[in-house]
Amino acid sequence: MSGKIPKYFINDLLSKTNIVDLINTRIKLKKNGKNYQTNCPFHNDKTPSFTVSYEKQFYYCFGCNIHGNAIDFLINYENLNFIESIEELSLMHGLLIPFENNVQSEQNDYFKKQKLYLLTDKISKLYQKNIMLTSSACEYLIQRGINKSMIQFFSIGFSDFNWNFFCKKLNITKKLETELFNYKIISINKNKKKYDPFQGRIIFPIHDKHGRTIGFGGRTIENMSPKYINSTETNIFYKGKQIYGLYQVKKIHPKPKYLLVVEGYIDVIILTQNKIDYVVSSLGTSITKEHVQILFRNTDTVIYCYDGDIAGKNAAWRTLKITLPYISDKKTIKFIILPENEDPDSIIKKEGAKNFKLRIKNALTMSKFFFKNILKGINLSSSDDKFHLSVRALPLINCISSDTIQIYLKQILARIIGILDDYQFEKFLYHQKNKKNNILQYKNKQTPMRTLISLLVQNPNLSTLVTSIKQFNKSKEKGIPIFLEILKTCSENPHFNTGQLLEFYRNSEIINILKTLSTLDHMIVEEKIKNVFLDLLKNIYKKDLEKRQEYLISKERINGLTMYEKKEIWSINKKLKK
Ligand code: UTP
Ligand code: MN
Repeated sequence: MSGKIPKYFINDLLSKTNIVDLINTRIKLKKNGKNYQTNCPFHNDKTPSFTVSYEKQFYYCFGCNIHGNAIDFLINYENLNFIESIEELSLMHGLLIPFENNVQSEQNDYFKKQKLYLLTDKISKLYQKNIMLTSSACEYLIQRGINKSMIQFFSIGFSDFNWNFFCKKLNITKKLETELFNYKIISINKNKKKYDPFQGRIIFPIHDKHGRTIGFGGRTIENMSPKYINSTETNIFYKGKQIYGLYQVKKIHPKPKYLLVVEGYIDVIILTQNKIDYVVSSLGTSITKEHVQILFRNTDTVIYCYDGDIAGKNAAWRTLKITLPYISDKKTIKFIILPENEDPDSIIKKEGAKNFKLRIKNALTMSKFFFKNILKGINLSSSDDKFHLSVRALPLINCISSDTIQIYLKQILARIIGILDDYQFEKFLYHQKNKKNNILQYKNKQTPMRTLISLLVQNPNLSTLVTSIKQFNKSKEKGIPIFLEILKTCSENPHFNTGQLLEFYRNSEIINILKTLSTLDHMIVEEKIKNVFLDLLKNIYKKDLEKRQEYLISKERINGLTMYEKKEIWSINKKLKK
């Protein structure tokens, strides 16, 4: 796939990107000597094992061995694919990807996406303009208590009741109309007339994290059914991956302490208006694991707020189960269960912002909510029920990656079941010993050749020390071809850092070897790296000579040597004596 984006462009992107900044805007890094460190975001890490190197433009974790360059970071951290990750970096630098000419699908996809961004943005602006020109829509918002500044802040709009009328009113050209139709933003009805599926609806534009409009939610103002609709999914709009209001929250709080997740658009807006300005919603769909990942990427504490009716309570429990695997010592969730038939919008209007803030303050912790739910219908005086309780609870507890939280919850569970003494508890834990997400501890064999290549991969500018490679051309030493290959690339690209070098070999046969060697801890202090590198080279050369010498000596005994070989052994002896 990468072949379709020119390599020079990818390399250029990497040279413009500072991986330290890229990561630091997502997770706080602390400077430690030359490198930057933090707890690893990819495993439940108790000590800062995650290291980012500015020089190498590379990150790695001693704990779980995850590593890579800026592109890999985006792929791993933001769940992007390779192309999306390149898109993200290009956007950061305000560049368009110069796809190679003859490539079809990806190029089209990419330009289709750019076009869609433009069109959704254009129509969104028209909806916004229109709301101010439509008294019924304004009246509806007033009746819902939404003020002007929120209309602006959330870019709320209105599509008219009649598409043709809307076109006339806003001077929408035939060309734009056709484009909107081609990109499925508007549709066509049985009578071959174009129409907007959102007509008669208040428009809530949905923004991605860069603030680009990617789709819309629409609420009827005249009791049409359904009450709400969302844009159909397009190349730029995936419902299960989008969170309404996050762009707005981050405008106010770049790193929010909490995110409060509610069910509706209007709930988000009304709470924000009441200065509870860290509220988001999942577009009316149930929470997905992608949502959870996005939420936890942006905050450490997610508070879910659900209606107290049966549907709401079920949804809350479902959400807990989806979220459990992502809970860690740092990432936690809480729950607010509202009185039946209330949503945040209705209740804050009844009881005021102060009381609502109290609900947030008193939100149930994950463990309280967990046991409250799991104990439902359990009769603790029945041993059968107790058994069922542990059968129900343990698989869920075992989903959590943090040992501390697991033990904490198991302690509570043990107490509820009636296991009181430590010995019994140990036994209980032992029996439940769960399969850990095995963190691979790579213990690499450290041979001179591996060290040599790893030094070069980690310090590509060492290539300048090698003045001639002639001596290695005939070498039979394992690893020499890879070494020479990398050496060549490094000499041809004297400014490459480790990140760029790895990028150069993405999708090539040797990438896995390179990746392993890029994190090999050779324990050589900075000042000695050059000398060690040169010594290793010398030793490898010496070993080659010795092998050849041995060969020639044994040949001499059996067959005798030619004139040329005699000269060779003489010169080898001389070289080895040096
Ligand atoms: P609700 O039915 O609870 O509506 O749906 P609400 O948010 O209280 O809306 P108002 O106050 O009557 O305006 C919650 C969310 O579920 C989605 C929407 O995202 C809505 O905000 N939903 C609801 C739909 O997608 N379609 C529907 O028909 C209804
Ligand atoms: Mn409501």
